[in-house]
Amino acid sequence: MSDDKKKKLKLKVSAIKEGTVIDHIPAQNLFKVISILGLDKIEHQITFGTNLESERLGSKAIIKVTDKFFEDDEINKIALIAPHAKLNIIRDYEVVEKKVVEIPKEIIGIVKCFNPKCITNNETITTRFKVVDSSPIALRCSYCEKHTVGEQIKMV
Ligand code: CTP
Ligand code: ZN
Repeated sequence: MSDDKKKKLKLKVSAIKEGTVIDHIPAQNLFKVISILGLDKIEHQITFGTNLESERLGSKAIIKVTDKFFEDDEINKIALIAPHAKLNIIRDYEVVEKKVVEIPKEIIGIVKCFNPKCITNNETITTRFKVVDSSPIALRCSYCEKHTVGEQIKMV
């Protein structure tokens, strides 16, 4: 089979002319990614596919946002739930740049503190953590100093 044909078969979601393709999102986190990036509130055209086959992830999701180019700190917010996500910047149908997400130094308002007694779990306060380790990810709460690590990490 020709490479061109292979590529067309792979293309389960139509190509876009200008914008950003976020690929390699774990399928189970697609809607969290949409919510963290605020894609449920913008007026750009968005197409997505989920439960697509992926050699690396088993099952992946992909999001295509027309005419939208994200700032690095915006996109890095998804690093906790889509650490292997790859961004493809599309200009005139061509991939002109590929970016990977990086775990930010500080996480504000995305994750719950694991400590039930923490003030953020008892009053309406935005959570805040310093990232103190990356593998597994360890977060230190800026309010109670307790660590929330790996599997303990839950979204607010
Ligand atoms: N893509 C798109 N619209 C375009 C060009 C590309 O939606 N005009 C999408 C492709 O469908 C693919 C992603 O952008 O999901 C990256 O494209 P490309 O680099 O051509 O694919 P791969 O080589 O498979 O990417 P990688 O292996 O880096 O994930
Ligand atoms: Zn806390």
